[in-house]
Amino acid sequence: MKIVIGISGASGVIYGVSLMKALEADIVLVMSKTAKDILRYETDLAVESVYQLADEVFEDEDMFAPIASGSNRFDAMVIVPCSESTVAKIANGISDTLMTRAAAVCLKEHRHLVLVPRETPVSAIMLENELKVARLGVAIVPASPGFYPKPKTVQEMVDFVVGRILDQLGQPNEMFDRWS
Ligand SMILES: Cc1cc2nc3c(=O)[nH]c(=O)nc-3n(C[C@H](O)[C@H](O)[C@H](O)COP(=O)(O)O)c2cc1C
Repeated sequence: MKIVIGISGASGVIYGVSLMKALEADIVLVMSKTAKDILRYETDLAVESVYQLADEVFEDEDMFAPIASGSNRFDAMVIVPCSESTVAKIANGISDTLMTRAAAVCLKEHRHLVLVPRETPVSAIMLENELKVARLGVAIVPASPGFYPKPKTVQEMVDFVVGRILDQLGQPNEMFDRWS
């Protein structure tokens, strides 16, 4: 399975990094410029160390990358975290970055697209954008960890969200204690 991971410039880039560590697939990574800045601000990780978690990396400005074309085969795409700016572009057909172009490819080719928005509070515009893409079959998985597994660390809260993303991709996982 080949999965495109987009990490955009919302708070919580650690969700994207943790997903890449847990995902059993060939990973194609695209990080926006702001995502790289936020990675440096929110974590002790270097951008290069995140690149090493991927099988292939393309710059967000590289519109010549294979994933910019619908003729290139990949199975699904996850944007995690997904800024509301990136949600807005996807919802309105704007493909001026590799990440938003690959998302547009998912929509036009009817491939699985998972968006993990991270914002609070949200405006009506943001809600409308999320609703618009949800109606097209996009999975909206907000970065909002559940507390019923009684997390004791931030990583456990991150892993809850990562587990729910993996559920969307059909990858069996035990990232968190499920309700039973
Ligand atoms: C430190 C920091 C945190 C941010 N957090 C969020 C956020 O949680 N959600 C969001 O929608 N935008 C957030 N933004 C704003 C986006 O980064 C901004 O809209 C940017 O243009 C998004 O571009 P991109 O989606 O191409 O990365 C944040 C910006 C900074 C600098």
